[in-house]
Amino acid sequence: MDKELSSIFVIFGGTGDLTKRKLIPAIFSLMYEEKLPENFTIVSIGRREKTNEEYREDMYESVKKFSRFSLNDELWHKFSMRIFYKNFDFTSDKVGYKDLDTFLETMDTKHLTGGKRLYYLAVAPEFFEGIIRNLKSNGMVDKANGWQRIMIEKPFGSSLETARILNHNISKLIPEENIFRIDHYLGKEMIQNILAIRFGNSLFEPLWNANYIDNIQITSNELLGVENRGGYYENAGILKDMLQNHLLQMLTMIAMEPPVDFEPESIRDEKVKVLRSLRLFTAASFKENIVRGQYGEGEVDGKKAVAYREEDRVSPLSNTDTFIALKTYIDNFRWGGVPIYIRAGKRMNTKSTEIVIQFKKLPGINYYKDFNEVVHNLLVLKIQPEEGFFFQINAKKPGSEFKMEKVQLDYCQSCKYLNDSPEAYERLLLEAIRNNSSLFTRWDELEYSWKFIESIENQFKTTLHEYPNYSAGTSGPREAIDLIEKDGRQWWNTAAD
Ligand code: BG6
Repeated sequence: MDKELSSIFVIFGGTGDLTKRKLIPAIFSLMYEEKLPENFTIVSIGRREKTNEEYREDMYESVKKFSRFSLNDELWHKFSMRIFYKNFDFTSDKVGYKDLDTFLETMDTKHLTGGKRLYYLAVAPEFFEGIIRNLKSNGMVDKANGWQRIMIEKPFGSSLETARILNHNISKLIPEENIFRIDHYLGKEMIQNILAIRFGNSLFEPLWNANYIDNIQITSNELLGVENRGGYYENAGILKDMLQNHLLQMLTMIAMEPPVDFEPESIRDEKVKVLRSLRLFTAASFKENIVRGQYGEGEVDGKKAVAYREEDRVSPLSNTDTFIALKTYIDNFRWGGVPIYIRAGKRMNTKSTEIVIQFKKLPGINYYKDFNEVVHNLLVLKIQPEEGFFFQINAKKPGSEFKMEKVQLDYCQSCKYLNDSPEAYERLLLEAIRNNSSLFTRWDELEYSWKFIESIENQFKTTLHEYPNYSAGTSGPREAIDLIEKDGRQWWNTAAD
C-alpha cells in the first residue's frame, strides 16, 4: 500500500447526517476492500458532547445500516480503534483549533501519518470560510511536512456573487490545488463510464455531434421529498440543489471535447468550455423553455406523502421549486442547434437518473415503406439505481414478412458486478488522498454554472406561481411534457418501460 496515502481524515460535522450516512460507511468500505493503508485515522469533530466510545457506538450503527459490506467483530474492532471524537465548537472556539492541532500531531507520531490531513467540511456552507480561516491561522493547512487538503461539500455559495466572494476569500488562504470541491455525482460509477464509452469506442465518437444527434435528455427523478432538510431546501430549491451541480456536471461529461489526456486539468479544461458555451436564459427564452413545479400531497411508493408546503421547516406559502424541466443549447461547433432537455424532480413516480442520446433518423425514403416504423437509435446511459446502458437499434423481425422491430442491446452493469460498484463517496475520498482532482470541480466550472443558474433565477423573480402544481408520486407538471412535445419530440421514460 502506498505510504503516501497514510493520512488522517479530519471531519468537521462529525455528528451530522452526511458523516453518518455516507462518510464513515464509505471509509469503512475502503478499509474492507483494503484500499486504505494500515495507519489511516479518522478524527471527527462535533459540537455535541460524546466520548470516543459513545461516538464509535453511533458509527457502528451507521456502518451496519449504510455500508455495502457486512460487519464482523474483528473488522469493526480494527476500524473503530482508528476513530476518535473531539468535541469543540468549531464556529467560535479558537483554542479548540490549537488543541485539535496538538491532538493531530500526537496522532501523526502514533500512527505515522506524517502531517497528511484531509479536512472534510461536512457542515453548513456558512461555516466553510470560518473553519478555513481558523485552520490557516493555527498553521494547520501549511505544515512543513506531509500535505493538507480541504474537501468542501456543496453548496459552494448560494449565488454567483456569494460563490465569488467565498472563493476569493478562501483562495487567499489555501492554494486551488488543495481545494477539493465535491460534486458526488462525479464519483458515480456510470458517470466515470461516460469517458470510457465515448472515447473507447469507434462507434460513438464520430457520430457524437450535431450532424447525427437529434437531442440529448438528462433526467433525474427522485422518490424522496426533502426529508429533514426543509430549512436548507427552502433556500436552495431544485435549481441550486441539483441543476447547478449534478445535472450540469453530467452534461459536461457528455458534451465535452476529448481531452488531450486524462490529467485532471485537461479534463476540467474541456468541461469548463461546455459550461461557457451554455446558452443563458433571457426573459423571452425563459417563458418558452422552462417549466417549474412544486409537489402537492400524493402517494409515493404506496405510502401517503405530504405536500412540500407541509414539510418540516417549510413555509406554508413557499414558492420553492421541487421540479424543473428546461430546454437549452450549447452554442459551439459540435453542438450548435442540438436541443438539450433537462428535468429533475423530487417526489416523482420513480427513482431513476439517466441520460439519453437520441440520434437522428436516416432520411425517409418513400419506397422503403416497411421502414416506416423504424425508431430512433437511442443510447441510454443508466446512472442509477440500475447501472449500465443500452443501445436501441432497428432490426428485422423474424418471419416471412419484412417487418421491422426495435432491439435493445442491453448491458446491465449492476447485474454483472453485483454490489461491486463503489459508492460515490468511497471513490471521492480515495481520489482526494491520491491527489486526483479530476473528480472535483474547479473554480471556473463553478463560476460558469452559477452564471447559468443566475440567468434562470433572475427570471424566477418575475414569474408568478400557482403551487403546488403536481401531485407527489407522479411524473411532474403536464407542462413539462408539452415543453418537449411542442418540438415534435418526447421524453424517453426508459426506466418505466
Ligand atoms: C444531493 C441533494 O446533493 O443529491 C439531494 O442535496 C439529492 O437533495 C441528492 O437527493 C441526490 O443524490 P443521489 O446520489 O441520491 O442521486
